Amino acid sequence: MRKPVRIAPSILAADFAKLGAEVAAVAEAGADFIHVDIMDGHFVPNISFGPAVTKSVRSYTDKPFDCHLMISPVDPYVGEFADAGADIITLHQEAGPHLHRSLQYIKSFGIKAGVSLNPATPAESLEHVMDEVDLILVMSVNPGFGGQKFIPSQLDKIRRLRAMIDETGRDIDLEVDGGINAETAPLVIEAGADLLVAGSAVFKGGMEQYAANIRLLTGRT
Ligand code: DX5
Ligand code: ZN
Repeated sequence: MRKPVRIAPSILAADFAKLGAEVAAVAEAGADFIHVDIMDGHFVPNISFGPAVTKSVRSYTDKPFDCHLMISPVDPYVGEFADAGADIITLHQEAGPHLHRSLQYIKSFGIKAGVSLNPATPAESLEHVMDEVDLILVMSVNPGFGGQKFIPSQLDKIRRLRAMIDETGRDIDLEVDGGINAETAPLVIEAGADLLVAGSAVFKGGMEQYAANIRLLTGRT
């Protein structure tokens, strides 16, 4: 099932000193989701923020919060992120040995469950959890930092996942994260992605530029 291309700006690239206003501004500018990058300094070599900050900005928009957990372990923190207002919690395939159980655990909070793949992790690693996922997130950079260069080998993975999703007939979002800009967005859309994460390409030029930045990525007029 192909859906219109939607955009999830990553607030990792926002000004943390005024995060609530940044969330409101990017939502107003046309964001479909708010992408919330959680990093623990252990699964990835960077630390961002946790559930308290997520909760503190939740009231600034009604748009769904797409929480990308780059943390290990995951399960002990799922409840806090659900309580903070996450609508989707995405964990990493590589974050632990019990992916199937963790996906079911996330869904037990009445929210959607996503799974993300690092650049080296094959599409086929999700073959036996396709019934459990609501969203698949392809990392087109190594997770941990914004502003990195897109890894082109991920286009083939997006194509494979598009075929795997279509085969299920289920409503599964295919999201891509890392190095998405005006040059790479058309490539991932052509390969089958329907949800684009972008940090630096959206949060550049000041708040008055966010709507134009989003239009450039999605091709909306
Ligand atoms: C990277 C994060 C991304 C990041 C994207 O680990 O998961 O969401 O913020 O940043 P850009 O769009 O600048 O590559
Ligand atoms: Zn992310």
